[in-house]
Amino acid sequence: MQPEEAKVMCWDNQQAFVNATIHNQLLQNYPVNNEFSKLFFKKLIDCIESYHEIHDDFYTFLCFLMNKKSLNTFCHRHYVLNNDTRNIITIMETNNMVVNGTTGMRTWEAALTLADWALSNKDVFAHKKVVELGSGVGFTGITIAKECNLESIVLTDCHNDVLKTIKRNIKINLPKLNNSDDAQPNAVSNIVPDILIGADIVYDPSILQPLCNVIKSFFDKNDLLEVYIASMIRNVDTFNSFLEALVCDYSVSGGYDPELNQIVVCQNVSTRKGMVQGVLVHEMIHMFDYCRNELDFKNMEHLACSEIRAANLTHCSFTSAWSQGDASWSKIKKAHQDCVKTKALYSVLAVRQIGKAEAVDIIEKVFPKCYADLEPIGRRIRRNSEDMTRVLRDASYYGYD
Ligand SMILES: C[S@@+](CC[C@H](N)C(=O)[O-])C[C@H]1O[C@@H](n2cnc3c(N)ncnc32)[C@H](O)[C@@H]1O
Ligand SMILES: [Zn+2]
Repeated sequence: MQPEEAKVMCWDNQQAFVNATIHNQLLQNYPVNNEFSKLFFKKLIDCIESYHEIHDDFYTFLCFLMNKKSLNTFCHRHYVLNNDTRNIITIMETNNMVVNGTTGMRTWEAALTLADWALSNKDVFAHKKVVELGSGVGFTGITIAKECNLESIVLTDCHNDVLKTIKRNIKINLPKLNNSDDAQPNAVSNIVPDILIGADIVYDPSILQPLCNVIKSFFDKNDLLEVYIASMIRNVDTFNSFLEALVCDYSVSGGYDPELNQIVVCQNVSTRKGMVQGVLVHEMIHMFDYCRNELDFKNMEHLACSEIRAANLTHCSFTSAWSQGDASWSKIKKAHQDCVKTKALYSVLAVRQIGKAEAVDIIEKVFPKCYADLEPIGRRIRRNSEDMTRVLRDASYYGYD
């Protein structure tokens, strides 16, 4: 506390402070850490007494704290959302890093960051089914459940004490839920979430592979699954091992992520320079379509169109069409079109769980228009060729810088 702040703590302001803290119903029901409170009020009294007479309730409360025996390591923390003191998440937790062999009994930095991000991106979560992995005491899941207008959320953890604490914290913050809202032990295997979240779950090298397996099992149920993991990077090697363990399925060599406008290259599949070039150009076509052509990835015709354009512009040179079985010397033009259709079909089937016949119909429907659209490159480019350099050189002729 600065001297100017202490100076304004006249009796009336001290009274207001007492009402907001010592007499506050929430803090009485769910007291904060005893040691913290003692130090806080001692320091406060120290600061104010040079300027004002100290309010009696400060001393009374300090005596009460001194006599209070801490029965266990648990206390409550009150997290004020968006600086609005009417909007508080109360979490029963400990100050300890590890309790009974689990790190889950306190709220970690990453949980705060992920919740903060969710509060700034509520639209991402609205009406969605969410599963949280390794919820710990539950701050992130409970905050998102309260604030983001979800369809449902399942908080998970593997430690019994943690699960009991989560339940307690849910009761504190969402008292209207009743026991019938409890997830059953098999709830996670039955649910098909739209979104998977996790905070500070990338810390133990031995659980990285199982974690990736769990993420993959949810992707297998929903190929549009979104995954948001917040991590505190304590050990760069552990974090990199996680990124390396996040390998792609062998039918996928890369991808475009519209959320963060980033291209992902699958290091386990795209292992040669030419492949990386191909992935980058292919995904940049999707990026272009998303940014310039308002591509909606959930619309199958949009997706098929973008895949046709990507295949047309970056794949299906004569040799690759030949190796795919779509080429012959006598019908080169037709062969190129067939190659593009086949490649687009594989791409659509790799990222969406739809039947082959349905995918073929959609590709045929949009093919003439999308095959003719050579924006923004203006020419077909071949892998491992000078085409990339030419495209860069010619960009200004097509109006691109
Ligand atoms: C560092 S804590 C993070 C807790 C919380 N998400 C946070 O950020 O405050 C890691 C949590 O993951 C849980 N956990 C570790 N291995 C797990 C597993 N195999 N299955 C489910 N939960 C696990 C732990 O019990 C612990 O609660
Ligand atoms: Zn694609």
